[in-house]
Amino acid sequence: MSTLTHDILIIGAGLAGQRAAIEARKQNMDVGIISKVHPVRSHSVAAAGGINAAIGEGDDWKAHFRDTVYGSDFLADQDAVKILCQDAPSRVKEMESWGVVFSRTNKGEIAQRPFGGQSVARTCYASDRTGHMLLHTTYDQLMKTRPTIYSEHYALSLITENNHCAGAVVWDMEKGKIISMRANAVLLATGGYGRAFSVTTNARICTGDGLSLAYNAGLPLEDMEFVQFHPSGMYGKGFLVSEASRGEGAYLLNSKNERFMKKYAPQKMELASRDIIARAIMSEIAHGRGCGSQKDHVYLDVRHLGEKKIIERIPEIRKTVHEQLGMDCVKELIPIIPTAHYSMGGVPTNVHTQVIVDAHNNPFPGLYAAGEVSCLSVHGANRLGGNSLLETIVFGRIAGQKMAEHVRENTRNKGSVDFSHHEEKARARVDELLTSVKGTKSHVLRTKLQQLMMENVGVYRSKTGLTSAQRAWKKLSTESKAIHVEDKSPTFNMDLIHALECQNLVTFSQSIIASALARTETRGSHARTDYPARNDQKWLKHSMAVQHGENVQLFYKPVIIAGYAPEARHY
Ligand code: FUM
Repeated sequence: MSTLTHDILIIGAGLAGQRAAIEARKQNMDVGIISKVHPVRSHSVAAAGGINAAIGEGDDWKAHFRDTVYGSDFLADQDAVKILCQDAPSRVKEMESWGVVFSRTNKGEIAQRPFGGQSVARTCYASDRTGHMLLHTTYDQLMKTRPTIYSEHYALSLITENNHCAGAVVWDMEKGKIISMRANAVLLATGGYGRAFSVTTNARICTGDGLSLAYNAGLPLEDMEFVQFHPSGMYGKGFLVSEASRGEGAYLLNSKNERFMKKYAPQKMELASRDIIARAIMSEIAHGRGCGSQKDHVYLDVRHLGEKKIIERIPEIRKTVHEQLGMDCVKELIPIIPTAHYSMGGVPTNVHTQVIVDAHNNPFPGLYAAGEVSCLSVHGANRLGGNSLLETIVFGRIAGQKMAEHVRENTRNKGSVDFSHHEEKARARVDELLTSVKGTKSHVLRTKLQQLMMENVGVYRSKTGLTSAQRAWKKLSTESKAIHVEDKSPTFNMDLIHALECQNLVTFSQSIIASALARTETRGSHARTDYPARNDQKWLKHSMAVQHGENVQLFYKPVIIAGYAPEARHY
């Protein structure tokens, strides 16, 4: 087995990983980036509607902070939200200076549109291709810094020794071999996990690999019960119909042609926060006011915006709806349904992006996380649209700086840790799959998991559904240990990669179910039909889930309140 060494190893090459790498390279760090796809194929490219920054007249970071904390249903850690909102204007202007082609006002300034849960129009955008523009521009900047990029490499496990992280064991997908990567600092920047659900906006690559790397290393996962369902997923497909549409003035309609949001969020209507709108849609459907022959979706109406505005502001929506549904949204209603979109929970970190391991925020030296895989927690129980792209660049940058500091202060990992048992374990995992002669195929198992999660751990949850999900999960977990990989070839074996991804999906899903079952309240995206109210007395705290054999051990961590005391939410 070969071994490679870098000062810093970044796992994942989306916006958070790239932004961290740029910062670390500026500080002359030797940076290796591994990614299972080419960096510009990372899922950050799919973020559509925009990025929040209080740069408009009359706006300021404090208003952004209040909107974000309110939107989070008061579960966000307010020290982290402050950093996010204070740094936003500088990061967006930096992106502009790097060449991001933002849409413009008539005065030539960066245009901003309203997004859900905001008190002003704060979302900077590049029509409805904002993530695409940001990712490609960041990649240009990254390439100038000449990091070492290992595309089509897949992380199998973290190397953790004596309570610190010393690297990762990696599968080289092209050569079909295992490599040990030593590093003094490792960043998890692997993105989200929408593929644990059957209806999702997420690309096929969003399989929560970083979560399972941490969870399998015995580290906790935070607030995993909080899964964001984006209200406007394309019916039958799950694809994103960007919130940009509602920001530009689109309506939601039920089968009676009513703008039903007036019942659920009379002030904000279609621009309430996503948790509220997703629940409203599911309630309309549950009460028989769904549309279509199955009465199982609602409509998004953009027709009144007119063709000119649609082409200028939301061209991707028009294109995708046309390609996928064969419809022209200039003339026709778009059928939509809530779709798994984003993970508020993740690998717990402090504001320096160091992974933490306990309720006292003690760090796990050498390991960092940024972007969707992490839980800082800036989004609490519900993320506002436009804050995820922002999080990647604000905390990606901080991760790069903090890892560089750590490397300067710690040289111990270079060559000192014996990796052999980590390598053997990873080798055994791959060999078991490659020599399998029977077992469930990964696509079959994945579909079972996705259906289970969608039915029982979706927008609405209950004790009955979650308990049955927990039972069913145990069976899936057993099956996942013996997946049948038919393709035995070492090179570009996607059957093998899909099996490894499927194992990861099953692994971390356990923490979502357990955390959701334990939290007997409704807060943000976690809506319990049997506990319909928020309960601050009991539940104003973060869940921390640790793998314990076939079970999960839960402990809790206080929420950091820094200036904004919890109040009831009304939109
Ligand atoms: O709807 C959207 O464009 C999604 C944006 C986001 O999740 O931030």
